[in-house]
Amino acid sequence: MKLKPLASSSSTALIRRSRLFIYLVILVVFILFVSVLYGEDFRCLLSPRLLADTAELPLPALRTDQKMEDDREEGDEAAALPFALGLTAERGCDLFNGRWERDELARPLYQESDCPYIQPQLTCQEHGRPDRGYQFWRWQPHGCSLPRFNATQMLESLRGKRMMYVGDSLNRGQYVSMVCLLHSIIPEGSKSMETFDSLTVFTAKDYNATIEFYWAPFLLESNSDNAVIHRVSDRIIRKGSINKHGRHWKGVDIVVFNTYLWWVSGDTNKILRGSFEDKEKDIVELPTDDAYRMAMKSLVRWVEKNMDPKKTRVFFTSMSPTHGNGADWGDTSGGNCYNQTTPIEDPDYWGSGARKSMLAILGEVFSKSRVPITLLNITQLSSYRKDAHTMIYKKQWSPLTPEQLENPASYADCVHWCLPGLQDTWNELMFAKLFYP
Ligand SMILES: *[C@@H]1O[C@H](CO)[C@@H](O)[C@H](O)[C@H]1NC(C)=O
Ligand SMILES: *[C@@H]1O[C@H](CO)[C@@H](O)[C@H](O)[C@H]1NC(C)=O
Ligand SMILES: *[C@@H]1O[C@H](CO)[C@@H](O)[C@H](O)[C@H]1NC(C)=O
Ligand SMILES: *[C@@H]1O[C@H](CO)[C@@H](O)[C@H](O)[C@H]1NC(C)=O
Repeated sequence: MKLKPLASSSSTALIRRSRLFIYLVILVVFILFVSVLYGEDFRCLLSPRLLADTAELPLPALRTDQKMEDDREEGDEAAALPFALGLTAERGCDLFNGRWERDELARPLYQESDCPYIQPQLTCQEHGRPDRGYQFWRWQPHGCSLPRFNATQMLESLRGKRMMYVGDSLNRGQYVSMVCLLHSIIPEGSKSMETFDSLTVFTAKDYNATIEFYWAPFLLESNSDNAVIHRVSDRIIRKGSINKHGRHWKGVDIVVFNTYLWWVSGDTNKILRGSFEDKEKDIVELPTDDAYRMAMKSLVRWVEKNMDPKKTRVFFTSMSPTHGNGADWGDTSGGNCYNQTTPIEDPDYWGSGARKSMLAILGEVFSKSRVPITLLNITQLSSYRKDAHTMIYKKQWSPLTPEQLENPASYADCVHWCLPGLQDTWNELMFAKLFYP
């Protein structure tokens, strides 16, 4: 029997039509897929924030409640973080990548003389700093803007809660900055600050809220833990000892950690296995990076065990850079931060006062944490600010020698920062990441 030719003219048309149909279906599915995948970006392109220059507007003002609901419905994990109010319009914008802009209208965020909580090591104007330029810089991320710090919003969110900064003297500076940013809206008599050994507690009575600082320069137990007498040159850190201090951090709702400088300012890091009370101490020397990684892993374990990802937030402030070596920014006269009045403009600047390898360790170790740890990546933006240190304008604990007075740079503090100043920006970044992660 003769086979019928397979493709009669009508069946060819049918096949063509069904193929066309399949192609159409594939196209539609593809378009749907792409728009689901990149929908945020499309919306971003169309969002008014990118069309108009709205750099001065606080972000939340541009967001309707409906928009925030939409963001949440998209099932984004960031929106589900405790304290989050919504997502920033510019998803994927790196807040830590940007430039310093002069702003004489909106800055400083408070006056040095209006905040009685600043310790005398940080009150630069009171100690004779001749210039105030360092107070007038605002951080401007590339491609988006920081939401304006709102003290009412911050305090309302802390109602019935505890916020704690844990770390070294740089973290204490950030803590005091936060207290200064908040205290002016709390009436006299409804606030107090007290210190008990390693713990300082600021209380906002009407809010039943506390903002606390806990001194633990290595986070782990060390021979530098005494809150007053801790100037030891030979640093010894006890392995696996995070609970020694950690039991004082339990139950806090927002915690901001830091630790860096002490790991790099001694000669070496010695790690103690066993306890400080043991007669025969088993001590090994470790390269700084290895010791730091060990400590950060301990921290992650502590966070996973003690912080509730549904109710609490964990932040870590990256290394605070130092400016002890003017050669870093091309000063060949052997100077340091002393006398510096302007930020560094080179966007690629990275001085010798901050170790990149340790920042990488933070990124690597925290990315594996089962409880989110938000890194406040302030190292590079702070490294531009050679003008923002306390220099010689602070309380001196011992009288200066004639040689020192002759050469002020020799005793300039190029580690700590004047308040108000740079560290207010660290808290603005923390505020942004808390409410609009
Ligand atoms: C600050 O936050 C409070 C409480 O959330 C809000 O009522 C107020 O409008 C905010 N202020 C500004 C300037 O955004
Ligand atoms: C005050 O806040 C603490 C937590 O810091 C909480 O345990 C306590 O119940 C609160 N008290 C009142 C009266 O709300
Ligand atoms: C600091 O600046 C003053 C005034 O500009 C200048 O006289 C002095 O030589 C400078 N000192 C150093 C160490 O650069
Ligand atoms: C921190 O920011 C710098 C640029 O400012 C970037 O090079 C680095 O990768 C960031 N590190 C982490 C761990 O996010």
